[in-house]
Amino acid sequence: MKILGIETSCDETAAAVIEGTNARKQNLVFLRSNVVSSQINIHKKYGGVVPEVAAREHVTKILPVVNEALEKAGIKHGQAAKKITAIAVTAGPGLITSLITGIETAKVLSYVWNIPLIAINHIEAHIYANFINTKQGTGNKEQNIKFPALILTVSGGHTMLVLMKGHGNYKTIGQTRDDAAGEAFDKAAQLLELGYPGGPVISKYADKFIKQTPKTTNYKLQITNKFQNSKFKIQNFLSLPRPMLNSQNFDFSFSGLKTALLYAIKKDKQWEKRIPEYCYEFQQAVIDVLIYKTIKATKKYNIKTIMLTGGVAANQELRKQMKLEIKKHVPYSMFRIPCLEYTTDNAAMVATAGYFHAIKKDFTPWQKIKVNPNLELK
Ligand code: KG4
Ligand code: ZN
Repeated sequence: MKILGIETSCDETAAAVIEGTNARKQNLVFLRSNVVSSQINIHKKYGGVVPEVAAREHVTKILPVVNEALEKAGIKHGQAAKKITAIAVTAGPGLITSLITGIETAKVLSYVWNIPLIAINHIEAHIYANFINTKQGTGNKEQNIKFPALILTVSGGHTMLVLMKGHGNYKTIGQTRDDAAGEAFDKAAQLLELGYPGGPVISKYADKFIKQTPKTTNYKLQITNKFQNSKFKIQNFLSLPRPMLNSQNFDFSFSGLKTALLYAIKKDKQWEKRIPEYCYEFQQAVIDVLIYKTIKATKKYNIKTIMLTGGVAANQELRKQMKLEIKKHVPYSMFRIPCLEYTTDNAAMVATAGYFHAIKKDFTPWQKIKVNPNLELK
């Protein structure tokens, strides 16, 4: 069964075709095409996504992107109605004016091709990035994902810990009370005058700091002990808080961390010379909290598979440290992460989530499908 996926919830116009099969009671999803037209360069100069600009871009890009996805999947013009089983489209959460373009396009195609529509929650789509069958990825086969699973979804708009007991069975056990992890990276980068989006540039500087710093898990200690008089000298070691680390729940909060960073650089006349260190400490503060809460939830709910997803899941240190800590503290849990290209917004994950709805015939008639910018994961 072939599914066309469409994603326009924020600033990526994306379409993809996947092919799902059920062989020996195992659902496998293979990617046939994956096209993403990113607007990052347009929004960069404003320091964030401008909804009105994003919507206009989606309108002009959506048909060329869908057309390219079909062509790359080997579906010739005029053949889609026969070859595609259903269209999966992101219905929310996201920017309403962006979502509308995807939904209306999917509705028209569904009407004209006379094929069913599937409404997809964007967070659910991020989860299903782990179910795309790829050679490089670790989370590629349904059989490799055992329930109950725990998904840490970290993106520009969301930071959530989701308990997944089976396909379509979700319970949010923790979420951010203010800024999302990706948003925190974006705001920190703005404070450090590093541009947009913040995640990739902060992680680049943090890596630089790690490389130039002697190898150790506690670099500060080692520097204090061994390098005090060496050429590698850091005065006033930077230390940012780990918000809500010891709270009794699985919630997060990142806006205080951003404020702590703001005060730290305000006090520091030399901050521009210490950008790699600031980036390292900020990134590590976010990583520490994310990992600690994930491990705690894994123990409480006896989790068999831990999955990481969303734009921040592209962060190499988060991926690396999460893997190590899981091995150390909860070795009975498997760890699954999608390939890098499926961590940020794309339509392959939407189409994959669509496949798991389609096998249950969970379709929405085009007359009833609606955009919901605040759609909750249920
Ligand atoms: O999932 P996504 O593409 O869009 C949303 O649904 O929000 O996530 C985008 C977010 C941005 O905030 C960006 O700064 C963050 O993901 N991001 C990263 C990295 N790459 C992207 N954050 C940390 N480290 C990265 N390497
Ligand atoms: Zn996203």
